[in-house]
Amino acid sequence: MPTHPIAFLGFGNVGRALARLLLRKQEDIDREFDLQFCVTGIATGRLGQWIDPQGIDLDRALTHLEADQPFPGRCDLPIPDFFAASQAQVIFESIPVNYETGQPAVGYLRAALEQGRHAISANKGPVVHAYRELTELARSRGVQYLFESAVMDGAPIFSLARETLPGAKIEGLRGILNSTTNLILERMETGETLEDAVSYAQAIGIAESDPMGDLDGWDSAVKVAALCTVLMRVPLKPQQVQRRGILGITPAEIEQTRQLGQRWKLVCSARVEQGVLKARVAPEMVGADSPFYNVSGTSSIVTFETDVLPALSIVEGNPTPETTAYGMLADFIHTLRK
Ligand SMILES: NC(=O)c1ccc[n+]([C@@H]2O[C@H](COP(=O)([O-])OP(=O)(O)OC[C@H]3O[C@@H](n4cnc5c(N)ncnc54)[C@H](OP(=O)(O)O)[C@@H]3O)[C@@H](O)[C@H]2O)c1
Repeated sequence: MPTHPIAFLGFGNVGRALARLLLRKQEDIDREFDLQFCVTGIATGRLGQWIDPQGIDLDRALTHLEADQPFPGRCDLPIPDFFAASQAQVIFESIPVNYETGQPAVGYLRAALEQGRHAISANKGPVVHAYRELTELARSRGVQYLFESAVMDGAPIFSLARETLPGAKIEGLRGILNSTTNLILERMETGETLEDAVSYAQAIGIAESDPMGDLDGWDSAVKVAALCTVLMRVPLKPQQVQRRGILGITPAEIEQTRQLGQRWKLVCSARVEQGVLKARVAPEMVGADSPFYNVSGTSSIVTFETDVLPALSIVEGNPTPETTAYGMLADFIHTLRK
């Protein structure tokens, strides 16, 4: 079997977790799937690009990153030229999300696909802003555009629908899709203030320095839009999702709810009602009889309502960047096995 050249566009938390996972799983992947690969390009923002069609030592690349040292023979090519110079057959894209436009990732993915390279992305921006365009482009070039990690990290959501539910129609969904707010609400149940709970989420690296995208429900809205666009085949922009975040919930309300034996959760939902898709993100009180009640900490859940299976749930416990990396690895194996 030939060795498949692969390149990383973005080498932050997710890119590096993927590099470590590939190193850890390399032998298993070879043995189980007869699939060999070598890394021929890594592109970052600050440290520039490392390109070597003969193969890059991933351990060495990780060491450079950890020491914040520029790559040897640093390049700063335009990204389409970086793809071409790396000669990679598969591009792993994990650059920061742009909720409003999906750029510049959309343009980069378009360039990769136009050049006949498979594109595997952890980025939800391109899914909500360019899913149809990128999927049709990939099809026309005989390559794959896959993005399992864009929603619920590595949990098999998109591949579940694509590979295991032939003929089923997803008619609705409900879920907890934002880890940060789920953790914050849980910590507030113990009497912590919103500010302290946010600081804790930032200290453990799950909330960004500006946490508003999580708190105001915007991240959840983007994920619901991605699920509706891909799985319910209704193109939906995040702005079309009715949205309320968790900022209006007071500590007193959290305590009253706890005393009633219930919990606040930021719930995402979408459903076709009289031919119109209604999608929303809003805090809800859930009781112990709800599957959402025990979704704790940074865990997440989605329950699909289909025309054949009334309620099919996937729960993901305590995700890490390695969980996200696994979604990309699964996409990689799916892609090359095809
Ligand atoms: N973290 C998670 O667990 C998780 C889960 C699901 C999905 N995701 C998605 O995965 C993506 C990456 O997340 P992350 O946590 O890994 O982010 P991150 O740590 O900020 O890493 C982003 C990487 O992209 C590089 N980069 C930024 N702009 C670039 C550009 N224009 N060209 C080339 N490289 C560029 C950055 O380089 P510099 O640092 O040098 O600027 C860095 O290497 C995001 O879209 C995120 O929404 C993340």
